[in-house]
Amino acid sequence: MAAKTTTFFFLLFLSLNLQCSNSDNWIRAGYWHSGSTLPVSEINSALFTHLMCAFARINSSTYHILIDSTYQRSFSNFTNTVKRKNPSVTTLLSIWGGKQNSEIFSSMINQSSSRQSFIESSIETARLYGFDGLNLAGVMPGNSTSMTNFGTLLEDWRAAVASESRNSGKSELLLVMTGYNFWETRLLSYPVESMKKSLDWVNVLAFDNYLPTRYNFTGPHSALYGSSSSSSWLNINDSVQEWLNRGFLATKLVLCMPYHGYAWKLVNTNDNAVGAPASGPTFTTDGSMGYKFTKAYIRDYGYGAASVYNGTFGVNFFTVGQTWINFDSAEAIRAKVSFAKEKGLLGYSVFQLANDDNWELSTAAKDQGGKDQKNERRLLIIILITVAMAILLIGTIVGYLKRKFILKSRMKNRISATENLSCNGHNLLVLSLTTIREATDNFASGNKIGEGGYGPVYKGRLPKGQEVAVKRLSKFSHQGSEEFKNEVKLTTRLQHVNLVPVLGICNEKEEKVLIYEFMPNKSLDFYIFDPYRRYLLDWRKRVDIIEGITQGLLYLQEYSNFTIIHRDIKASNILLDSEMNPKISDFGMAKTFTKDECEANTRRIVGTYGYVPPEYVRKGIYSMKYDVYSFGVLLLQIISGKRTACYYGPNDSFNLLEFAYRLWKDGEGMEFFDSSLDDSSSTWKLMRCMQVALLCVQENPADRPTMLEVYTLLKNETATITTPRKPAFSFTRDEDEERNKCKLKICSINDASITQLVPR
Ligand SMILES: *[C@@H]1O[C@H](CO)[C@@H](O)[C@H](O)[C@H]1NC(C)=O
Ligand SMILES: *[C@@H]1O[C@H](CO)[C@@H](O)[C@H](O)[C@H]1NC(C)=O
Ligand SMILES: *[C@@H]1O[C@H](CO)[C@@H](O)[C@H](O)[C@H]1NC(C)=O
Ligand SMILES: *[C@@H]1O[C@H](CO)[C@@H](O)[C@H](O)[C@H]1NC(C)=O
Ligand SMILES: *[C@@H]1O[C@H](CO)[C@@H](O)[C@H](O)[C@H]1NC(C)=O
Ligand SMILES: *[C@@H]1O[C@H](CO)[C@@H](O)[C@H](O)[C@H]1NC(C)=O
Ligand SMILES: *[C@@H]1O[C@H](CO)[C@@H](O)[C@H](O)[C@H]1NC(C)=O
Repeated sequence: MAAKTTTFFFLLFLSLNLQCSNSDNWIRAGYWHSGSTLPVSEINSALFTHLMCAFARINSSTYHILIDSTYQRSFSNFTNTVKRKNPSVTTLLSIWGGKQNSEIFSSMINQSSSRQSFIESSIETARLYGFDGLNLAGVMPGNSTSMTNFGTLLEDWRAAVASESRNSGKSELLLVMTGYNFWETRLLSYPVESMKKSLDWVNVLAFDNYLPTRYNFTGPHSALYGSSSSSSWLNINDSVQEWLNRGFLATKLVLCMPYHGYAWKLVNTNDNAVGAPASGPTFTTDGSMGYKFTKAYIRDYGYGAASVYNGTFGVNFFTVGQTWINFDSAEAIRAKVSFAKEKGLLGYSVFQLANDDNWELSTAAKDQGGKDQKNERRLLIIILITVAMAILLIGTIVGYLKRKFILKSRMKNRISATENLSCNGHNLLVLSLTTIREATDNFASGNKIGEGGYGPVYKGRLPKGQEVAVKRLSKFSHQGSEEFKNEVKLTTRLQHVNLVPVLGICNEKEEKVLIYEFMPNKSLDFYIFDPYRRYLLDWRKRVDIIEGITQGLLYLQEYSNFTIIHRDIKASNILLDSEMNPKISDFGMAKTFTKDECEANTRRIVGTYGYVPPEYVRKGIYSMKYDVYSFGVLLLQIISGKRTACYYGPNDSFNLLEFAYRLWKDGEGMEFFDSSLDDSSSTWKLMRCMQVALLCVQENPADRPTMLEVYTLLKNETATITTPRKPAFSFTRDEDEERNKCKLKICSINDASITQLVPR
C-alpha cells in the first residue's frame, strides 16, 4: 500500500518537475578541473545546464591560450564527451587569469595589442574544441588603474565575440567570469559597468571566507573566522548583497558553492562549537578537504556522531577529537540554492565536480532548484509528498522495529553461546584453548601459514565454519609476552578497513593466542618478489594497495584517537583479503604517542632490517617519521619488485635506496621499475611514486613528508613536489648468506629481522 502511494506521488511530482524545468533558464553550472581524479567520461552531465572545463592558462610571451599537453586530449574531447549524456548541456572553456599568474594577466591587460592576442586566441581555441563559451576565472578585484584596463578587455572581448558570430554564422559564444567576494579586498573593485554590459553572467565564489591558513588563530572564534573582528561577510547573503550594493544585477549573478570544506586543529578538544579557538589547518597544508573525503572521514572515524548544520553560516560542522571540519552538506547546498532562488539570482554553480560523493550534492542542488519553482501547485505537492513520506516512514519504522527485535533475540543467543569480552566498545571473542586446538588441528604444522613478530601463525576454522588466522606466542620468545599485551591493547581499539581485524584472544595455561580474520591472499611479499606471481598485481592493483596502506597509516597517525607508530611496516606485514585489499598487520611492536609528544627514546631496538630509519638505528629515536621511512622503502619495493636485502647496480655495489636514488637522479628511473608494470592507463605515475618514496627515505626525519603530505602528493598529480635529498645512509652488515641468495634469485625468505641486533 505504502509503496504504491509513494510511487504515485513520486510520478506526479516528477511530471510537475519536468514541466517546471523546461520553462526557465535557471543555470546549474559545474566546474570540472583537469587536475582532478574524475574522468570527463564519468561526469553526470544530466545534472547540469552548463559545464566548465578548467583551466586553460595564458602564455606569458604571446598571451595566447595555453593548454597543458597532459590535458590536451581531455579538453579537446570535453564537449563531445559530456554531450553524450546530455545533448543540451552548454560547455565553457575556463581560463585561469589572475592570482597565480597575475603578472602575466596584468601585463596582458595593460596593452591593446596583447589584449587582442588573448581575445583572438581564446575565441579560436573555443571554436577549435567545440566549446559554447568562455569563462575567465581567478581575477581578483583590483585598483582603479588595473580595473580600467580589465573593463576595456571585457568590452573588446564582447565586441570580438559578437563580430565572430556575425562572420561565422555560428551562435555567439557565452562570456562568463568567476569573481571573488568583495570583502576580501574592501578597497578594491571590479569594473562593474563593463561587466554588466559585456558578460552573460558572473559566478560569485561565495565561499572560502574563512581559511585556516589566512587568519591569526589565537583569537576567539578562530575556528570559523580567525581573529578577524568582522564577521559580517561570513554568510552568503552578505557576499551577494555586496555585489548588488556595488551596482551589479541579481539577474546576472550565479552563486558558486563549494564541494569542499576545511579541517582545523582545535586548541581545546572540549571546546568544539562553532567559533571555538583553533590553531591552524590539519590534514592538508591548507586544511581543505573535498566533500567525498569529509564524508568518508565522518563515516570511518565519526563514531556515530552526526554533523551539525548551522544556518547562520550556511555550513555544516563536525568534530572528532582535536579536529574541527566545516563543509557544505546536501542540507547546506539545498539552503543555498533556495537562497539563490529567493534573491532572484540567475542560478548556481559548483566547484568542483570531482569532490562530490556519487553525485549526492549535485542531485540535491538540482532537485532543490526544481522544487523552488514559483508554482501554484507546489504547496499541494509538498503536502501530498509529506503524507506519502509519513506513510512510508511509519512503514519503515514498523519494519525496522520488527527487524531489530528479531536481531536482538538472535544476538542474545550468540552472546550466551560464546563468552564475550567488551574491550573499549570492541567486541572481542574470548576462546578456550580447547576451541583453538580444535580449530587448528592442535597447531598442526600443516596448518602453519607464517611466522609473525613473536610466534607462528596458523590457519584455523572456528566451530561455526569461519576461517581465522591464529597467532600463537612462542614459548621461547623473551619479549613476546609484552608484545602480546601490546597488540591486544592496541588492535582491539583500532578499527579501519586497512588494518587486520582482531576477532578474539585466548589466554589460558601460559598459552597466549590472538585470533584474526583470515586473509586468503597471503601477504604482499608473496607477489611482488616472485618472478611469476608479480604479474598478478598490475599497476592498477598496486595503486589500490598503495592507497590502502596510505589510508591505514593515516588512520594510525592522524585519525585514530591516539598517534600510533607501527614500527614494522614491511611487505610481509601487508596482508591481502579476498579482493586484494591491503590490511596492515602485526602490532606487536607498535607504540602509542600522546598527541603532543613528538619523539621518544627506546633502549630496545626492534624492527626489520632495511625498513628501519637511521636515527632509530643509531640513537633509538622514533617518531611518526619512522613509519614514513618504512613506507618509503615499501613503496620502492612495490614499484620495483626488489628486496632490501639484496644489492644492485654495477658490481652489486648499491643497496636498494642508493640504487633507486642514483637512477632517479640520472633520469633513469625507468630502469628501476618492475618490468611487468605499465602506468600508461593510470593517473598514478610510477615516476611520481618513486620521487615520493625517495622523499620518505631521506636522512633527516624532518625532511621526510608526513603521511598526510604523502597522501596529497600521490593523490594529486599537480601538488608541488620537492627534490629528494640523498637517502639515509643504510648501515650494512655482513650478510654473505643473504647476498648469495640474491645472486641466485631465490631471495624468497622473509626479510631478516634485526630485533635485538643492536643491543645497548
Ligand atoms: C609560449 O609561446 C612561445 C611562442 O610561441 C613558445 O615558444 C613557448 O613554448 C610558449 N610557452 C609555453 C609555456 O608553452
Ligand atoms: C573522444 O570522444 C569520443 C566520444 O565522443 C570517443 O569515441 C573518442 O575515443 C574520444 N577521443 C579521444 C582522443 O579521447
Ligand atoms: C604594462 O605592463 C608591463 C609589465 O608589467 C610594463 O612593463 C609596461 O610598462 C606596462 N605598460 C603600460 C602601457 O602600462
Ligand atoms: C594598481 O595596480 C597595478 C597592477 O596591479 C599596480 O602596478 C599599481 O602599482 C597599482 N597602483 C596603485 C596606486 O596601487
Ligand atoms: C593574534 O590574536 C591575539 C589575540 O586576539 C593577539 O594577542 C595577537 O597579537 C595576534 N597576533 C598577530 C600576529 O596578529
Ligand atoms: C540579506 O541581507 C539584506 C541586506 O543586508 C537583508 O535586508 C535581508 O534580510 C537578508 N536576507 C537574509 C535571507 O538574510
Ligand atoms: C550557529 O553559530 C552561531 C555562532 O556560534 C550561534 O550563535 C548559533 O546559535 C548557531 N546556530 C545553530 C543553529 O547552531
